[in-house]
Amino acid sequence: MDKLRDALKGVAKELAKGIVQGTTLGLGSGSTVAVLLEELSPLVMAKGKGINGVSTSTQIEMVAARNGINLVPFRGSVDLVIDGADQVDRELNLVKGGGGALLREKVVMGSAKRTAIVAAENKFVKRLCDNGVRVPVEVFPMARESAKMKLSMLGGVPEERLMPKGYPYFTENGNIILDTLFEPVDDPRELEVRIRSTPGVAEVGIFTFKPITVYRLQTDGNFEVLKRDD
Ligand code: A5P
Repeated sequence: MDKLRDALKGVAKELAKGIVQGTTLGLGSGSTVAVLLEELSPLVMAKGKGINGVSTSTQIEMVAARNGINLVPFRGSVDLVIDGADQVDRELNLVKGGGGALLREKVVMGSAKRTAIVAAENKFVKRLCDNGVRVPVEVFPMARESAKMKLSMLGGVPEERLMPKGYPYFTENGNIILDTLFEPVDDPRELEVRIRSTPGVAEVGIFTFKPITVYRLQTDGNFEVLKRDD
């Protein structure tokens, strides 16, 4: 963990170079972004640059507030998204939504001029869904059963996300999540579109946005920069 933190410090220094006065950041959710913001904020503040941030969840809103980031409403676009991922394939497609913030994360990432993803090296795979990672699908509660049927027809095995004591999990948008097991995915874009066309599906945690830059955190304390434009 200490070494991953060192790698995150390095990424924070790199990202700080591209943040100027007036930059609006899209703040993804999750533990990686939380630690990254702790490293990034002092660097940017020290240069006298204020950071504006658009949050994608209450979790990251609280982290941002603690770190002196000026939170602003989403006004349709952000300059740079900083986000984590649950899985990254060799084409830099992502599975996201382990923390339940996928809908807002996708809205904000879809509006970003630049996208920076930060993920530890154990999250990198050849194809999405390798190693049994499930795809989170956010669903309007009324469509719970019909969406499960449709996901099964697409070859998935949906499982409703529950809280630790067995109560249903609800997103900040009032929806449920069906964590869905798929065979390793050959065409993530096609699967993303097919799942999203299901009535009642609000969003799917397959992210295929390009261009994208991914910072791969290594356990030796260094990081690698991977880019894809198409
Ligand atoms: C939040 O819903 C997710 O998309 C996170 O970005 C993803 O789950 C990665 O989270 P960690 O950084 O906590 O692993």
